Amino acid sequence: MSDQHAQKQAAAKAALQYIEEDMILGVGTGSTVNCLIELLPTIRLAGAVASSQVTEDKLRALGIDIIDLNFAGTLDVYIDGADEVNANLQLIKGGGGALTREKIVAAASKKFICMVDDSKSVEILGRQFPVPIEVLPQARSYVARQLVQMGAEPVYREDFVTDYGNVILDTYDLDVSDPSALEQQLNNIVGVVCNGIFAANQADVLLKASSNGVQVLTR
Ligand code: A5P
Repeated sequence: MSDQHAQKQAAAKAALQYIEEDMILGVGTGSTVNCLIELLPTIRLAGAVASSQVTEDKLRALGIDIIDLNFAGTLDVYIDGADEVNANLQLIKGGGGALTREKIVAAASKKFICMVDDSKSVEILGRQFPVPIEVLPQARSYVARQLVQMGAEPVYREDFVTDYGNVILDTYDLDVSDPSALEQQLNNIVGVVCNGIFAANQADVLLKASSNGVQVLTR
């Protein structure tokens, strides 16, 4: 499995073992999750909580009932991809801009299963992939100035609005050596809705696909 898409498909197939019939499944967003969504019609679900409008539309098209998280209670399982993952199963997410809704569904789930191809594994988060930060539109410049004061380089994601009507600052050069501390620090900036570091809501299980197959890592 050298091909990245084949690795995503293999990780998605491995994720099926965590899905039980008649459960309400939390479903993430992105190209790896799309591989999983293609496989879902083989399982009878009670419904799904979607982490983005895009995912919601894809699930509906397959006839899967969409459940509002407010009426779903605590979910047993949330399955999603990631942009980067470290050895502690802490993540950067939000490349697709769905980070806030993804973090909410992850937080409301007992188990977060994360599927990645081997290009996503890193020693230190944020060295290659910027940290996406969702910001209230009015606070964009203020938050950007605070990030610059931290030595970072925020880049406004042009022509993009989140499902909640907010904007994204893709932020380079943050020191992510302590993901939990930075996640909290970023959340404390007024105007920040959510940031793409998943340390408090890290993965419980990592399905890491490579040319050697799918490795299952737990914390
Ligand atoms: C969406 O906002 C992201 O958090 C995705 O989960 C992440 O970007 C992974 O996407 P791919 O599966 O497309 O790599």
